[in-house]
Amino acid sequence: PRRAALERAAALFRAVPDFPAPGVVFQDVTPVLADPAALRAVVEEMIAPYAGRFDAVAGLDARGFLLAGFAAALTDTGVLPLRKAGKLPVTAGHVAYELEYGSAALEASPELAVPGLRVLVLDDVLATGGTLAAAHELIAACGAEVAGSAVVLEVAGLDGRDRVPEALALFAA
Ligand code: PRP
Ligand code: MG
Repeated sequence: PRRAALERAAALFRAVPDFPAPGVVFQDVTPVLADPAALRAVVEEMIAPYAGRFDAVAGLDARGFLLAGFAAALTDTGVLPLRKAGKLPVTAGHVAYELEYGSAALEASPELAVPGLRVLVLDDVLATGGTLAAAHELIAACGAEVAGSAVVLEVAGLDGRDRVPEALALFAA
């Protein structure tokens, strides 16, 4: 049943040309989030390799929040949002990074700053790898540990894999 639901998920991705900037093809996983069977299968597949080896799930702004919430509920762990800079009222760390279309920065709440806390990192898409690499840097800077990373979709041809070689990607686009 999970395999069938994953095949269903693969058919739900939406590639949107010229968003958010001309020349960028945005990989939109929103339809997968809206499909109950696909959502469950995708999140179960993302956490499976790391079962029992993490204490909290970090979700990357913005769709990673939704995956992390679901994963935390399935594994009886908590959620740590790693947010775009300027959104969190109290922060424990700040890491700037480059995107395919500009630059950004990630910040964490102080709940991440627990020495030895094993954190599973989830996001929707791996493109240049800048976001995921920044998340890893932020977690380390806060004294916590990256237990693993998983994304739903990896965009080929941007070399993001080189920056986060160990990350699990369920699908490629
Ligand atoms: C997208 C996507 C990933 C990131 C991947 O987020 O959701 O987080 O880009 O790109 P990278 O591997 O090149 O870093 P984006 O920052 O565009 O915005 P959003 O998640 O807030 O929609
Ligand atoms: Mg994002």
